Amino acid sequence: MPSPVSVLPEARSPKPSQRDERYRLARARALCQARAMTHFDIVRVDPADHLLVRSWLAAQESVQEHDFRGLSPWHPLGALTGLVVHDPDSRREKWAAVCDGEVLGYLNLNLSDRDNTHLVGFEAGVRPDSRRHGIGSALLRHAEERAAEEGRTAICTWLAVPHEDSPDVRGDGGPFLIGNGYQRSLEAAVRVCELAAVDEEALDRLWDECGEKSREFELTTFHGVPDDRLIDGMAYLHQRMYTDMPLGEWDLQEGRITADTVRQWERQRLLRGQLNIQTAVVHKESGDVAGFTEIQVHAAEERHAWQGNTIVDPRFRGHKLGTLLKIANQRRLERMRPFMRYVWTGNAESNTQMIAINEAVGYRLAGHETVFQKKIG
Ligand SMILES: CC(C)(COP(=O)(O)OP(=O)(O)OC[C@H]1O[C@@H](n2cnc3c(N)ncnc32)[C@H](O)[C@@H]1OP(=O)(O)O)[C@@H](O)C(=O)NCCC(=O)NCCS
Repeated sequence: MPSPVSVLPEARSPKPSQRDERYRLARARALCQARAMTHFDIVRVDPADHLLVRSWLAAQESVQEHDFRGLSPWHPLGALTGLVVHDPDSRREKWAAVCDGEVLGYLNLNLSDRDNTHLVGFEAGVRPDSRRHGIGSALLRHAEERAAEEGRTAICTWLAVPHEDSPDVRGDGGPFLIGNGYQRSLEAAVRVCELAAVDEEALDRLWDECGEKSREFELTTFHGVPDDRLIDGMAYLHQRMYTDMPLGEWDLQEGRITADTVRQWERQRLLRGQLNIQTAVVHKESGDVAGFTEIQVHAAEERHAWQGNTIVDPRFRGHKLGTLLKIANQRRLERMRPFMRYVWTGNAESNTQMIAINEAVGYRLAGHETVFQKKIG
């Protein structure tokens, strides 16, 4: 009996038809339905195959719209730049389940070569009109096979899960992953700060209170590559994120971050058109970087921004530095992007200190995410 799915690692998808694209898609859909989806190929997404890329983007957009409404939005430019801008220290493979030229499902793999070389991160989705035909299972199997080929021993994905706090988030993924042997390894909460709704006077008062406790420190705000005075200290603190953040059962291990890694990250952001707004706090006496925070603005995204790492060195905790950093960086974002509306953040549910700071500066609960993980090999 022929296998319902074939994997074509280096193959390109079928050649773009000369016909009108709408006709092509309608025909593909009819063909897949006629075959009751008994055959589809899993192919690497070739950035030069424009029709395939368009269909791949449409598949991702349809999943976002159907399953994750009300959470931070998906933007096609992020997916497009991810196809052509490659990280020097991790491989991001894009795969698609294709039936007659039409993408029915996608699988994005992240294989780090810098650290955590035992782990593979992934995202997968199947178009809402093509579910329960085995496509998701085939993509998941492919992810696990690629992980095993690379000698990795664990595979994981972050997934928004349904909750009364996020009524428009659907829940197909959780039961699917659990049924495939995945375990919930970290529970996280998603919060959003609606900038126009922040009580700026309350924030001013908080700023003054924090200022009392932080006289020994100096704040500095910038974007892009940190200057030479900061970069080593920031690299050290980025590295500490791996160990200081609550991780539950998620098997993320310590990373190695150097000043060169930080420079490389900023270079990648430049190529992707991302702006990284950062505030650092420096201990005046020693010159040590005591903490930092960052907010990322993605290319062509004028309403939504994303909170990145925030950390205060344990040697300098208890001086309200976390709150000061957050307020300063949020205000810098508002000055640089005055029409920005929302900033999104995610924290482990157990990270009560960070959550308390986020609530104090205006973040409100918007949903929940779980890291699903499976040990393999
Ligand atoms: C999760 C998802 C990828 C599954 O894709 P799919 O093509 O429908 O999956 P399959 O057809 O291979 O499903 C295989 C089995 O998984 C289980 N399953 C799938 N969806 C399920 C659901 N909503 N509830 C319970 N079980 C489910 C069933 O056992 C199913 O077998 P069955 O159809 O014979 O009952 C798809 O629903 C999706 O894209 N969801 C949004 C994105 C997402 O949640 N991704 C999670 C993986 S990162």
